[in-house]
Amino acid sequence: MGPPGSGKGTQATKVGEKLGIPKISTGDILREAATRKTELGMMAASYMDEGNLVPDEVMLSLAEERLDETDCSGGFILDGFPRTLAQGRGLERILEKRAKAVDIVVLLDVEDETVFERLTRRRVCPRCSALYNLGSDPPDQEGLCDRCGVPLVLRADDEEATVKTRLSVYRADTLPLIEYYESKGNLERVDGNKSIDQVFAAIMRHIDEADAVKRRGLHED
Ligand code: AP5
Repeated sequence: MGPPGSGKGTQATKVGEKLGIPKISTGDILREAATRKTELGMMAASYMDEGNLVPDEVMLSLAEERLDETDCSGGFILDGFPRTLAQGRGLERILEKRAKAVDIVVLLDVEDETVFERLTRRRVCPRCSALYNLGSDPPDQEGLCDRCGVPLVLRADDEEATVKTRLSVYRADTLPLIEYYESKGNLERVDGNKSIDQVFAAIMRHIDEADAVKRRGLHED
């Protein structure tokens, strides 16, 4: 979890690669659907372009369908979902039905100034969704994706006014979910202002600790 531009996608990709589990980014799924102009994509684009959230019931059925795919059987990392209290509770119901649970919630804390600076410099690959930053994480070849070689693009919702809306939506709709996870005791805050590698190391420490606690619990059972 974290505000726009906090590094969720960047870190979720690295954690997924390290642990060999899929990264499920609801933003990427919706953008891909919007590019393909599917019914879901066209509906989602009308919310995304304004910086607003896509309705909870749409997100929950999208997540439920994705989590039933076979690559999720050994675990998964969620990027950008859940992001409202209703989605958080819905996710719990979805996981309970499958005898699963959320092991750890990581919150990336960053300043608003950092958000604006990062998002104006962000570039994404329209084919594989790889993320770059003209300042902190540039591609090897200027303007081109390292993996696909296609020209990188600026995201439509990274315009300053839309970023402002996304930040206020985050405060109104996502902070209550953060408080909820905090009250349950499985939320770990990480300073997202540090370098990509430092943030990654901090997240992995929390994941390793949560894993050790889970293994001890299973052992005692
Ligand atoms: P989504 O794509 O999830 O957007 P977001 O939450 O606003 O987050 P971002 O993708 O902008 O940022 P990020 O935190 O992933 O940062 P990144 O790693 O790219 O959602 C988009 C829209 O889809 C929503 O507004 C909504 O409409 C809809 N949607 C999606 N999920 C939904 C849901 N569950 N419910 C309802 N609607 C939903 O990093 C940003 C930049 O900074 C990059 O250039 C990166 O290279 C750089 N960077 C990253 N970390 C660092 C670092 N430590 N130091 C320096 N640079 C860094």
